[in-house]
Order: sequence, then C-alpha cells, then structure tokens
Amino acid sequence: MSKILITGANGFIGSFLVEEALLQKHDVYAGVRKTSNLNHLNSSEIQVLPLDLSDPTSLRQKWTELKSVIARFDYVIHNAGVTQVVNPDDFDRVNNRYTQNLLQSLVDADFAPQKFILMSSLAAMGPGNEENLAPIEPIDTPKPITNYGRSKLKVEQYLSTQQYVPYLIFRPTAVYGPREKDFLSLFKAINRHIAPYISSPNQRLSFIYVKDLARLLITSTISSESNKAFFVSDGYTYTCKQLVDISKKTLDKWTMPIVIPKPIVKVLALLLEKIAQARHQTSVLNSDKYKELSSLNWSCNSKETEKAFNFAPKYNLENGIKESIQWYKKNNCL
Ligand SMILES: NC(=O)c1ccc[n+]([C@@H]2O[C@H](COP(=O)([O-])OP(=O)(O)OC[C@H]3O[C@@H](n4cnc5c(N)ncnc54)[C@H](OP(=O)(O)O)[C@@H]3O)[C@@H](O)[C@H]2O)c1
Repeated sequence: MSKILITGANGFIGSFLVEEALLQKHDVYAGVRKTSNLNHLNSSEIQVLPLDLSDPTSLRQKWTELKSVIARFDYVIHNAGVTQVVNPDDFDRVNNRYTQNLLQSLVDADFAPQKFILMSSLAAMGPGNEENLAPIEPIDTPKPITNYGRSKLKVEQYLSTQQYVPYLIFRPTAVYGPREKDFLSLFKAINRHIAPYISSPNQRLSFIYVKDLARLLITSTISSESNKAFFVSDGYTYTCKQLVDISKKTLDKWTMPIVIPKPIVKVLALLLEKIAQARHQTSVLNSDKYKELSSLNWSCNSKETEKAFNFAPKYNLENGIKESIQWYKKNNCL
C-alpha cells in the first residue's frame, strides 16, 4: 500500500482526491488546518494530519515525529491553495511560499516523497488568443492575467528549478461537480429564469469534472512521467451559450438572456472587492474574477495529458452537469 499525503484534503477537490485515493487502495494522510471543516473526511481509513504550512519548523518537527512510524510518504499531492483572498499578497503567500515551506521541510527532514504533485491551474498560463480563438497549447508562453495565476506560475517555476524531488504539475481548467459553488450560482440563476452573460455568448470555455480530475491525479502517482506540466480538461471546447443551454435543459427551465456590459461588471467587481476587504472577507466577484470572466478564450489542448496518462475522461459537460444537479437537488442546494 502506497502512502499518500493530500493537502487541502477537506476542500472541494481535495475531498474527491481522498475518495479516489482510498478507492485505489492508497494509505491516505489528509493534510488539513487545525481550523478546517472535516465534514467530508468521514472515512475511518483516513489519517487526518493537521499541518501549519506557514511554519517550516513545525512542519519539520511533524515529519521527524512521523519518521518513527513510516519511512516516508510515497507521494505528496499538494492541493491546498487559495482562489479568493482578502489581501492580494495572500495569493503569493499561500500558493507559492507555503508550497516552498512544505517541500523544503520534507527535504530538510530527510522525508522527501518519490513524487511531488502540484495542483496548479490553467490560470498560470492565462487566456488564449482572442482573435483566432485557438486553444491554449502546452508549448505557449505563460501570460497569467491575475494575481492568482501569477502565484501559480511562480510556484510552478520554483518546482521546476528545485533539484530535490521528481514532480508533476497539473493545470486544470474550471473544475466542477458536487459541492462546487460557482456552477451552483449559475444553476440558481437559471432556476430563476435568468441566463447571465458577462462576456460574449461565444466565449470559449473548457471544463473538467472533479471525479475525472481526481482519478487522473491519483493514477499519475504511478506513472513514469515526471518533471513536466500538464493541462487538464475533458477534451472539449464549449461556448458560454452551450454551458447555459446544457444547464437549462438539465434543469428544464426557460431563461431570459441578460447580457451585463463589461464596464458595469468591472465597476461592480471593484466595489464588491473593496467592501469585502473592509470587512476582512473575500468576494466571489472581484477584480481577478472579472479578468477571468471577461477573457474570451479559455479553451486548451489537453491531448498530451490524455496520451501521457492514458487518461480518458468519463464525463463531458452534459453528463457532468446532470450528475452535479442531481447532487445539488438531493442535498437541498437547488
Ligand atoms: N476549483 C477550480 O475550478 C480549480 C481550478 C484549477 C485549480 N484549482 C486548484 O485546486 C486546489 C483546490 O481548490 P478547491 O477548488 O478545492 O478550493 P477549496 O474548496 O477552497 O479548497 C482549498 C483547500 O486549501 C486549503 N487552504 C486554503 N488556504 C490554506 C492555508 N493558508 N493553509 C493551508 N491550507 C489552506 C483549504 O483549507 P480550509 O478548508 O481550512 O480553508 C482547503 O482544504 C487549489 O490549489 C486551487 O488553486 C481549482
């Protein structure tokens, strides 16, 4: 049985990684914070490991203690990260510096894994060409447009220059599935007969269902691939209109298209961000989110990933949305 540490294990993607790792018979260590909500980590097979990623000394101590019990983790999937923050510097602090703390502490304690897998994001590449709408290619030069994307690119660069541990970087596009909140907001709007468009209805988008993403990452532990970055999508490009059409068909609702002009969304995003900052809270709509929502091209070419890991996504947007909506309804979210 391989020992696998999954950080951010209690979050949306993390909890699916844990489920899949148990399914694939790994010995699972769930890295969480002392304050984390553990509602979705209820299997008795999981070993919950409170970690303070801000404190390299405590991390080293933790690994030294664990060394008397296990030789090492075979694999570490570092999935913890922030996608919304109060202060823009928090992106770099958590997504970049905390990753460095984690890896360096494992190395310093002579407890480094066989493979370190980083959950990055397509945001590290930035959007694709808005003129020809060609998919973003793995060989393109990264041009992140958000603080979030820049923090993910910075940590990717750190990982690819360190010499200690073989690594894999995954750059998922938008991830959706049970418990995710952005899709839920869209479904709620459609339930009220509103089809909101911020960018053009022809905006190019790509998606990955959370269960497919989890299966790919857990399987990648035993692959011979290393020291490379991979896009993750379901292999299709969708338009924003297709996303709305599939959602309304599944919810069986008619909708009125509401096209919100970009300048209005931009001002609103800035305003909500400032209000949230004053209250020390995060806002779902903020200046980073505005830049993402208003970019016309988030399609990506993930053929290389499919080939490298023999990865065949089981879900396209249609059956992924169907399963998600069933879950939201069953859990009284819709
Ligand atoms: N959702 C997407 O569409 C998407 C797309 C591409 C990449 N990603 C990446 O996937 C990863 C997981 O995202 P998610 O969507 O599952 O978000 P999520 O539900 O918010 O989960 C984030 C996880 O990271 C942990 N975390 C946050 N701040 C931390 C800190 N300061 N110290 C330690 N742990 C911390 C959270 O712990 P608490 O619960 O204690 O806060 C939680 O377990 C992130 O790295 C994100 O960048 C997400």
